[in-house]
This record gives sequence, structure tokens and C-alpha cells, in this order.
Amino acid sequence: MLNFTFHSPTKIHFGEDQINVIADEIPADAKVLLVYGGGSIKSNGVYDQVVDALTDHTWFEFSGIEPNPSYDTLMKAQDIIKQQGINYLLAVGGGSVIDGAKFISAAALFEGDDPWDILIKQAPVKKVLPIGAVLTLPATGSESNGNSVVTRNGTKLPFSSGLLRPQFAVLDPKVTLSLSDRQISNGVVDAFVHVIEQYLTYSVNGKVQDRFAEGLLQTLIEEGPKALNAETKDDLAIRGNIMWSATMALNGLIGAGVPQDWSTHMIGHELTGGFGIDHARTLSIILPAVMKVKRTEKHEKLVQFAERVWQLTDSDDTVKIDKAIALTEDFFKRMDVPIRLSEVGITQDNVEGLLEKLQQHGMTALGEHGDISIDVSRKILEQAL
Ligand code: NZQ
Ligand code: ZN
Repeated sequence: MLNFTFHSPTKIHFGEDQINVIADEIPADAKVLLVYGGGSIKSNGVYDQVVDALTDHTWFEFSGIEPNPSYDTLMKAQDIIKQQGINYLLAVGGGSVIDGAKFISAAALFEGDDPWDILIKQAPVKKVLPIGAVLTLPATGSESNGNSVVTRNGTKLPFSSGLLRPQFAVLDPKVTLSLSDRQISNGVVDAFVHVIEQYLTYSVNGKVQDRFAEGLLQTLIEEGPKALNAETKDDLAIRGNIMWSATMALNGLIGAGVPQDWSTHMIGHELTGGFGIDHARTLSIILPAVMKVKRTEKHEKLVQFAERVWQLTDSDDTVKIDKAIALTEDFFKRMDVPIRLSEVGITQDNVEGLLEKLQQHGMTALGEHGDISIDVSRKILEQAL
């Protein structure tokens, strides 16, 4: 396997009714900014639990962070941070809120002229405000990684810094019971694709990473559909397994020391930026096409995926790979997400525009070999039609 340094400092508090631990996790003298989204935490009781836990702290709030958080919204938090001398951010929500808190944190102490440079120029993040997280939507892994994705005028850009890993994260499966089926599906599919993008490359004999990844994939395949089934959807054991899988999928563990291929995400970001398609639904459309277009380069790992994740025993590798791709599409269908661009109204006419955006954003050498050029992305998008 490749050399790596693994450091995952986020303290995880998993389980029911753990939100009160934030009282002890946040320093008593901190000036806290509670950051949240469009109000789901008010209707499901999470806000009240957080407010109870913050009784002995000095705190303020900033709300309205939208899905695919917008730069303009996030910049509005800077006023209250300056006016009140905020020195701790508590993000309560899904990936968008936690990602948003990360950008707010980095922008607050950014030493350059324009915080947009953090995204557009990947300007280094040197100082941050500490972040704690209460996760309400298992999907992104943002609660224990240093990544963030921010949108401005249809341009969706990622940035990353180890400094931005939350200091702690509360994972209470009970808070996920208020999720809509659409958000449950999105979360399971996003986590599944995160695992795939750190697994389906080429072998470097990273046995631990591979087997962890295969275990996570199997767990998501087993538990995901149950969270949509009326008879089992409120089972907290199922919700808990999904929640922990999503965190483990992108906290750096399975990706340490192995090649990675984030092409599905990068092409997917253009579909969200340009057409407003939910993040996970871009992935369920693009991933099968990446598997098909890159099946020669990914041959060995596709066979391993077929054998170990889908237990396929056919003697012919080609048959195994075909079946594994079909079963992946079938899993996405069972999770009720689209697998073709036509299902979301995107046609051949939109392909060149998407490629121009990829070019503008420097996404011209994607994949584990850096060989997914604009021409290869064209093939992937056309395959996905
Ligand atoms: O805003 P509120 O009212 O909270 O409602 C949210 C939002 O409308 C709702 N929701 C969240 N928890 C809920 C709930 N509704 C009912 N009950 C609950 N318990 O769900 C909606 C979607 O939330 P959002 O945070 O946007 O979803 P998700 O967690 O899927 O995050 C998506 C964002 O994360 C980025 C994506 O690009 C996208 O911007 N990603 C971040 C990554 C990272 N930091 O590592 C990696 C990912 O690949 C991804 O790119
Ligand atoms: Zn994702």
C-alpha cells in the first residue's frame, strides 16, 4: 500500500440521547455560534435539545444555510462573528450546514483579501475557529472530515483542511427519524459512492482498506432499503448502522494509503451547480457510467467488487463485471434514485455546456490515473444519457 499519515481527531459520541454531551465538550467560556439550516431542527426537537444543553454557555445563532450552501449566505455570518467575538461554531444539521460552518470558520480568520480565494484559488487555510457538530443527516461524512463544498452562482467548489475537522460530533440515530425518504435515499447513496471512489481504482494490496470498504458497501446495501421500507424504517438499529457507515465512509480511514478516483463527484458537482440536482442523485447517475467507460482500467477491482460485495461466482470476468454494474444500478433503483440523465431532464444538448464547466474548473485530469480528460468525461456523460 502507499505511504500515509492518518489522523482523525474528531471525538464521536454515538447513540441515542447524546446531544447533552455538548455541554461538556464546548469550553465553558466559549462564545458559541449555533449554526443551522432551514429549520428542520426546530420541528424535530433537536433545536430544543441543543438549547437545553447550552444553558450555561454564552451563545448566538445563525440560520438559513441552504442545501448546497451558498457563499453569499455563509458570508453573512461574518458580521455576528465580529460583533459578538464568536470563538466556537456549533453546526447542527446535515452536510450542508457542517460544510457551511467550515467555510464560515475558515473565512472568519482568513488572512488574504477575499475569502472566495479559499475556493477558487485553493488559498491555504491557516487559522480556523473550532467546530463541533450535531449530525442530523447521515451522508457526507462532513462531521469528522476536513472537507467542505460551497456554491456561488452555479459554481460548486470543494476545499479541504485538516484544521477544519470538527472537534467532536454527536451521532444520535434518533434524530434521523424525521428525514424524508428522499433524504434517506440521498444519504445512503452518497455514502456508498464515497466508499466506491476510494476502493474502485487499482490494487495496492491495501487489504485492510479493501475489506473495511467492502464491509461498508455490504452494510449500506443491506440496511439502505430497510430504511425506506414502511415496516422497518423506524428501526434505530438500522438507522444507527447507516449513520456509522456514512461517517466511516469518509473520515479518511478507508482512503488512507490507497489510490482514489473522485471523478463521479467532480462531474456530479457540475450537475448540481448547473441544474440543481441533489448531490447524491448526480452520483447515482454518473457512477455506473464511470464503471462502464473505465472498466478496462478498473478491471481487477471490478472483479473483486463483483466477487466480494455481490458474491458473484461466474467463471467469466466479463460476465461478473456486467452483473456487478447491473446490481449496483439495481441497488440505486431500490433506493429510488435516478440512474440516467434522461430521468432528470438532461439531454445530449446539455453535454457540451457541462464539459465547458469542467474545463473552467480545472477538472481535466480526473480519476486515479489522471486520465479522465474532457474527452473521457464526454464519453461518461454520453454513456449516462
Ligand atoms: O436545512 P434543514 O431545514 O436542516 O433541512 C435539511 C435539508 O433541507 C434536511 N434535513 C437535514 N437533517 C434533517 C432534515 N430534515 C428532516 N430531518 C432531519 N433530521 O435535509 C435537507 C438536505 O440537507 P443537506 O445538509 O443539504 O444534505 P447532505 O447531508 O446530503 O449534504 C449535502 C451537501 O454536502 C456536500 C454536498 O456537495 C452538498 O453540498 N458534500 C460534502 C462532503 C464533505 N464535507 O465531505 C462530501 C460529499 O461528497 C458532498 O459533496
Ligand atoms: Zn458525496
